[in-house]
Amino acid sequence: MAKKKSKTLEEHEKRKLNKQNLSKLGGIFRFVLPYKLNFFLGLLFLAFSSLTLLTFPFVAGKLIDAASGEEWLVSGINNIAFILLGILLIQSIFSFFRVWLFAKVSERSMRDIRVALYRQLVQLPMTFFDKRRTGELISRITADVSMLQETFSTTLAELFRQIITLLAGVIFLMVTTPKLTFFMLATFPILVIIAMVFGKFIRKLSKQTQDELAAANVIVEETLQSIMTVKSFAGEEYESNRYNTGLNRVVKVALKAAGFRGAFISFIIFALFGGIVAVMWYGASLVASGDMSVGDLVSFVLYTTFIGGSIAGLGDIYGQIQKAIGSSERVLEILEETPEEATADYQNVPVAGDISFEHVAFSYPTRTEAQVLKDINLKIRAGEKVALAGHSGAGKSTIVQLLLKFYAVESGLLTVDNRPISDWNLKQLRSSIGIVPQEVLLFGGSIRENIAYAKPDATEEEIIEAAQKANAWQFISQFPEGLETKVGERGIKLSGGQRQRVAIARAILKDPAILILDEATSSLDAESESLVQEALDELMKNRTTIIIAHRLATIRKVDRIYVLREGQIVEEGTHEELAIQEDGFYANLVRLQFAE
Ligand SMILES: Nc1ncnc2c1ncn2[C@@H]1O[C@H](COP(=O)(O)OP(=O)(O)O)[C@@H](O)[C@H]1O
Ligand SMILES: [Mg+2]
Repeated sequence: MAKKKSKTLEEHEKRKLNKQNLSKLGGIFRFVLPYKLNFFLGLLFLAFSSLTLLTFPFVAGKLIDAASGEEWLVSGINNIAFILLGILLIQSIFSFFRVWLFAKVSERSMRDIRVALYRQLVQLPMTFFDKRRTGELISRITADVSMLQETFSTTLAELFRQIITLLAGVIFLMVTTPKLTFFMLATFPILVIIAMVFGKFIRKLSKQTQDELAAANVIVEETLQSIMTVKSFAGEEYESNRYNTGLNRVVKVALKAAGFRGAFISFIIFALFGGIVAVMWYGASLVASGDMSVGDLVSFVLYTTFIGGSIAGLGDIYGQIQKAIGSSERVLEILEETPEEATADYQNVPVAGDISFEHVAFSYPTRTEAQVLKDINLKIRAGEKVALAGHSGAGKSTIVQLLLKFYAVESGLLTVDNRPISDWNLKQLRSSIGIVPQEVLLFGGSIRENIAYAKPDATEEEIIEAAQKANAWQFISQFPEGLETKVGERGIKLSGGQRQRVAIARAILKDPAILILDEATSSLDAESESLVQEALDELMKNRTTIIIAHRLATIRKVDRIYVLREGQIVEEGTHEELAIQEDGFYANLVRLQFAE
């Protein structure tokens, strides 16, 4: 499995360098634009530092020639050595500023990308999240943006530096020592490119080794996790053999890789240095015939290594840019999605809580072939309490999702306060609906922050009152830190019933006109359930309430029960009315639950 995963990652990471793909990188560049002054200053310093460094081999050659008494602009070994040090000093100062400026640009622009991505992500419609896994979205905001940061802070700079080095180096050599330069250009770059291709092949092989090792490790992990099963099936021998076979594969691939690596190293030593020997041989013969000075040969060899280095560097940069294009593509994809529409303007009129579904049909955009709701008709007057009953998968939660405008109604009419839901301002509608779900996930932070989530400016008294009404104050006040107690991943673990009561306190504070309880007590033990039920009864007062309940005992007191079956309402009435219907669907459900 590990193998498969890494392969697909590799494939979608790299993109071809064509015009269309490069324009994607350009799409990200707009985040760099606000910092363009620093960016171009950085480029300038980069050009300066590269050019300064390029004078180094030339002056170094002059130093050697000065040793054999040749004259140059400045005379004397010491003076030339000082010039060399001066060059290094100037180039270090330039380098410092280029690194600093590029960091400034990339840190700020990447922060802007992350914020833009996040802002966009949270505003995208539910349909978007249905289609994607959370892990993948997180990796876009982390790994992909880091990849882009790397590109804008280092890779692009390196690209310019290598190109400057390559061009300026070659031009300089062409002018000063043309014969030797042509000889060098005909041999050296080819060798460097062969070495790079070879190197890439070897990296691939060593990756295969890692993948095989990962696959073998999975065997250890699996068997240790279910060691009881292994032992109860007397599978020790079998598993050991399986692990052995896996490791044999690792050895096989690793040895193959080692063979190529050995060949690669021999090749590098022989061919690459052989190339240098060839250039030096030709150069030496030029020196012998008096066509070239020793110093010129030394600076020539130094330039050649610069040039070889930048060719190799360009290869890495090529791969980096391919990956960066993949990243920018994934980032732009999110930025170009259409966010949820607010529809109408926000109006500060209180929502009464009349709800009506007329012939509403719906299927999820990700699964259009399955008709989840068919011809739903509900009429709930403000302040009424109704329940939705039915087997799981009948479409109860879907009704709630439509009410929250998570998805658009396919056909039929859904109104709140006699206004079609499509005309409602999104924020206004959602802020008047409160939900207590089956599984409450609290945000990392204090209990206070969690309760005040819907009303950040709530006073201490309001928060405590809400907690009291929710039956939560009893346990909160017993924590040494009270409301400041941290919950969530890094904080203390609250029990299911306690989390539920925090969520109820949150809903009480939000004071919504419409309340939705989606299996709010389904996963609680009897004791928590009665505490939570008490809190819910308090919360339900004076609000339109839709209760989705698995346990029918909790919905006896509601005004009306709608029984759903495969996306249709098959029965409606009070508990008393429905329970006495001889072969009614609800009556049957009740009988089944009693039998449990
Ligand atoms: N986000 C979704 N995307 C696609 N299908 C969904 C989605 N949510 C629920 N469904 C499907 O819709 C049907 C009704 O689901 P739901 O309303 O959650 O049922 P209930 O709450 O009554 O158990 C089920 O068949 C379920 O698989
Ligand atoms: Mg449900």
